[in-house]
Parts: sequence; C-alpha cells; structure tokens
Amino acid sequence: VLTLDLVLIGFGHVGRRFVQLLAERERVLAEEHGTACRVAGIATLRHGTALFPEGLNAARAASLVDIAAAGVPLLALRDAPALIETAADRGATDDAALVVVETTTLDIRRGQPAIDHVRTSLERGAHVITANKGPAAFAFRELRDLAERKGLEFRFESAVMDGVPVFNLVNDTLPGVQVDGFRGVINSTTNYMLCEMEKGREWSDTLSDMQSQGIAEADPSLDVEGWDAATKTAALANVLFDAKITPHEVRRRGITGIGPGELAHARRQGRRLRLVARATRSEGRSDCVVAPVELPEDDPLALLPGMANALILETELLGPVAITELGGGLTPTAYGLFSDLVAVSRRIRGRSAIAARRSP
Ligand SMILES: NC(=O)c1ccc[n+]([C@@H]2O[C@H](COP(=O)([O-])OP(=O)(O)OC[C@H]3O[C@@H](n4cnc5c(N)ncnc54)[C@H](OP(=O)(O)O)[C@@H]3O)[C@@H](O)[C@H]2O)c1
Repeated sequence: VLTLDLVLIGFGHVGRRFVQLLAERERVLAEEHGTACRVAGIATLRHGTALFPEGLNAARAASLVDIAAAGVPLLALRDAPALIETAADRGATDDAALVVVETTTLDIRRGQPAIDHVRTSLERGAHVITANKGPAAFAFRELRDLAERKGLEFRFESAVMDGVPVFNLVNDTLPGVQVDGFRGVINSTTNYMLCEMEKGREWSDTLSDMQSQGIAEADPSLDVEGWDAATKTAALANVLFDAKITPHEVRRRGITGIGPGELAHARRQGRRLRLVARATRSEGRSDCVVAPVELPEDDPLALLPGMANALILETELLGPVAITELGGGLTPTAYGLFSDLVAVSRRIRGRSAIAARRSP
C-alpha cells in the first residue's frame, strides 16, 4: 500500500470538506487505489500551524478546530513555509510520499502566497494539489516546468468549475486534441444574479442570496467586477494553450450597473445578458476577455439556470466540446482535490510498477 503524507496549507471550507471526503472514501482509496493517507500537518493563518509527527487519520483531522491545541502529539510551527520545510526534512527519512494540499485564500493582485507555497513544496520534493486559482493564473509555466524537472505532480482541477473535469479532461483524456479557444459562463454568483434580476429582483437582494449561501467571494467585488472570471480565464488560457498571461491581461468588464431594466430590455429583443469569458489564440497570440454579452436565447450559455456554469472548448478534432456543471459547491470542489490526489497516487504507483519491471 502506498502511503501519502498530506500537508494541508489552508484549512477553511474547502480544506475541511476535502479531509471529510477522504475519511468517507478511505476504503475506496485503499481497495481501488492501494493508497492510504495520513494528515502530516496543517497550516492556517489564525488557527495555528502544526506538524503531527505520528500522522492523523482523516476523520481525526476533520474534527480539529484550533490546530495548535489539538490534543494530539504535535510540533507547533510558525507558518506555512516552516511547515512545508519541516515536513520535507522529515519526509526524506520516511517511505511515504509527501503531498501538499494548498487551499488558502485567493489573492487577486499577485496570486501570493499560494505561488510561494507551491514553489517551495515542489522544490522540496512534494507533489502539489490546489483549489486556489492563483498559481495557474499567475505562474503556471514556471510551476509546471519546475514540477516536470522534479518528476512531481502539480494539479489544480478545482480551480475552475469545482470538481467537474476541465483540465484533467483535456490533459488525460483528449490526447492530441488542440484547444484553439473557449467561451463560458464560469462565475456562479454573477450568473445567479443576472438570472434573478431577469425576474425583476433587485441587485442587492440577489447578491445577499449568494453571500448567505457562502457562494460569493469574501469580497463580492471580485465576483461582480469580473475578477474571479478573469482569474479563471487566465488559468484556462495558460493551461490549455500556454498563453503566458495573468488575470490583469484579461480585458475585463463586470456586471456593475446592470439591473432588471437592462435585462428586461435584452429579453424584449429575444436576447439574454450573461457574463461571458472568452479566449482565442491565433499565431501564438491569445486574446482574453470577460464582459457582459447579449446572447441569443437559444445559446447554450444563455440557457444555464442560476448557479450553473459551462465551458465550450473550441477544438480542431472534435469541434466544440461543452462541459456543464449544473450543481456546484463545496463537495464538488473537495472532489476535484480528491481526483487530483488519485492522479498523484496513480503517477507514483505507475512509476513504482515501471521501476519494479525494470529491476532484474
Ligand atoms: N469555496 C468554494 O466553493 C471554492 C470553489 C473553488 C475554489 N475555491 C478556492 O479554494 C480556496 C479556499 O477556499 P475556502 O472557501 O476554503 O476559503 P476559506 O474558508 O477562507 O479558507 C482559507 C483557509 O486558508 C487559510 N489561510 C489563508 N492565508 C493563509 C496563509 N498565508 N497561510 C496559511 N493559511 C492561510 C485560512 O486560515 P484561517 O482559518 O486562520 O483563516 C483558512 O484556513 C480559495 O483559493 C478559493 O478561491 C473555493
């Protein structure tokens, strides 16, 4: 059985749901993937940071509140970088593989400190999985190349459309397919607000719905001004066609100023106003934009209800391929991390199988 030592950097909504999901799927991991997980450490901003020298099972870790007063053997540490370094030092004398699970808050200006967390982890020999959009949106090429040089995985399925496969779909199941562009509705808060305002509801009421359900970002201007969609667009363009951009190079206009009147006007013209992300590439250059667009009523993106998301990939071999997420939320996001973890396990086990076949 392969043992994975997990170092959780960030232990909020997503980090906690991920650990619960691990506890729920422990048997599947063991029986179908020959993999066992221990939580080797947790870092937070205000709730303590610690290494657990004996490891914790997922169920026990999920129950922790104050990390540094967990009532289990632990080594309290200063911050996330100290935890990554200490876990990597210990990992060198242990058989288990180290996986850093990065779920800290998105920083829209520079994608930090998540990028540093990912970089340090890879440099110190740990695989990385993350739900944070920052690393792929701001530093994809550098981190991908570093992971490749080190023979490690750097995965981020949950960064766009929660756990619905987008990156893994293209990378793992569409070999040889070139993506030439995409368009999509990839921010749940704004799609819900536009759908509800179309029914005549006021802006502030529709935004409150999203805030009370924990769907809107902590700073809702990141949603309504299009920053969240621009960050996802940059991540998608960087990964799917090596665009080398940051969210600041995505032309961006949010939905501020749009109300029931504008939406009703569009409806009378047989159109629906939606916040659309679009990216194209031609001759090595990419053009990325997030803006409200009046769509024909029968456009697949116009038909998405409430919090649904969809992405339509333009490919040369398969034509347009649409990926739709009708659900969404914390569990699918945690599942994206789970699927990334299984991919890490497959990579390590595949490598060991090859090594075993080669040995005399
Ligand atoms: N929520 C979703 O449905 C969803 C979906 C897809 C992607 N994501 C992404 O997933 C990530 C986590 O989201 P969330 O909803 O779990 O956020 P959250 O509940 O605010 O949790 C963030 C966690 O990160 C910790 N943290 C922040 N800065 C840190 C630092 N410098 N060092 C160590 N820990 C730090 C926080 O510590 P404290 O506990 O001390 O505050 C907290 O535990 C974000 O990047 C988000 O964009 C979320």
